[in-house]
Amino acid sequence: MRTALLEVEGLVKHFPVKGGAFGGVSAYVRAVDGLDFEVKEGETLALVGESGCGKSTVGRLVLRLIEPDAGTVRFEGDDLLALDAEQMRARRRRLQVIFQDPYASLNPRMTIGAMLGEPLFLHRLANDVGARRTRVGELLELVGLRPEHARRYPHEFSGGQRQRLAIARALAVEPKLIVADEPVSALDVSIQAQVINLMKSLQQRFGLAYIFISHDLAVVKHIADRIAVMYLGKIVETATTDELFRSPRHPYTRALLSAVPLPDPAAVRERALLEGDIPSAIAPPPGCRFHTRCRFAKESCRRDVPALADDGAGHATACPWWPEFPPAPMTVGAAARAEDKTRLDRLQAAFVKQEAT
Ligand SMILES: Nc1ncnc2c1ncn2[C@@H]1O[C@H](COP(=O)(O)OP(=O)(O)OP(=O)(O)O)[C@@H](O)[C@H]1O
Ligand code: SF4
Ligand SMILES: [Mg+2]
Repeated sequence: MRTALLEVEGLVKHFPVKGGAFGGVSAYVRAVDGLDFEVKEGETLALVGESGCGKSTVGRLVLRLIEPDAGTVRFEGDDLLALDAEQMRARRRRLQVIFQDPYASLNPRMTIGAMLGEPLFLHRLANDVGARRTRVGELLELVGLRPEHARRYPHEFSGGQRQRLAIARALAVEPKLIVADEPVSALDVSIQAQVINLMKSLQQRFGLAYIFISHDLAVVKHIADRIAVMYLGKIVETATTDELFRSPRHPYTRALLSAVPLPDPAAVRERALLEGDIPSAIAPPPGCRFHTRCRFAKESCRRDVPALADDGAGHATACPWWPEFPPAPMTVGAAARAEDKTRLDRLQAAFVKQEAT
């Protein structure tokens, strides 16, 4: 059995909102509101949910780019929040990040060689110029680029290549865990498949673990071992990817999945579309936070906060009523939207093509 690399317990982050007559704190955005999860060595945990549910905040908290208000983050057995700045710097080598927009995170005035050489120098991973040059060439080859690309600048690369460069930079310091925040969301679907396949092969080769943040379940399906579904700062369901797609339990997960088109044209999933906007994280609804949009809501859901209860087999659901619901039908309802279908076809065709090569 794989051991836990990262263990997160009771994680809370409330951002103050300035306002009022004297510019004081008028309210708090409850971005992350009591999260427990773990990531095992070499596995991919996906965090999914609508915009604003707190996914990126979780990523930033795990990396300790921001400090939580409560909770613990243990990485390789160490309590990260107890480390001082110097100890954290050493730890950060093992914990890397990739963002959605690689261009914003690549220095436009630095050559690729200088950019990849910098972390090698800072972490004393290659001591002289020759060793650094060799290692930079290796890193470029690892991500499917060529050693001579080291002389170029970020603007000379395409979007997909820039994401490869961001991956190479993360790999330079030999991490154990990479937080990837919407790493392929800005890319065309065929390029998405290439980058995901690259991430998967690097994972196998180096035993990397990923926290893969995405709003796109069709992409997540291809990379995640497990999925945690977030709603308004809380996890509402976690399960292995296969299990979650096969038998989603929480009404929110069912609604999210209903928007993912099915590859088989004969099979059409129920379209339990989400009604209304996600409520404000400043004043989330009492009781079950999802009750304002839940088609199964009962009176008590406005009052009682559901616990995230594990069924003993690793599938946890924050809704005590799920056993009463009809199974999520996969073959009723209206036809999947044509544009979703086309997009999925392209994505899947791209994956099949990549896997064959
Ligand atoms: N520095 C900040 N100050 C105040 N509020 C913040 C800050 N960072 C995030 N928030 C708020 O916290 C909530 C969660 O934001 P977060 O960026 O984590 O969501 P997300 O799930 O990553 O969304 P998206 O899919 O759009 O990237 C949002 O309501 C956001 O406005
Ligand atoms: S607890 Fe109630 S409102 Fe929340 S998801 Fe379950 S049925 Fe819906
Ligand atoms: Mg985000």
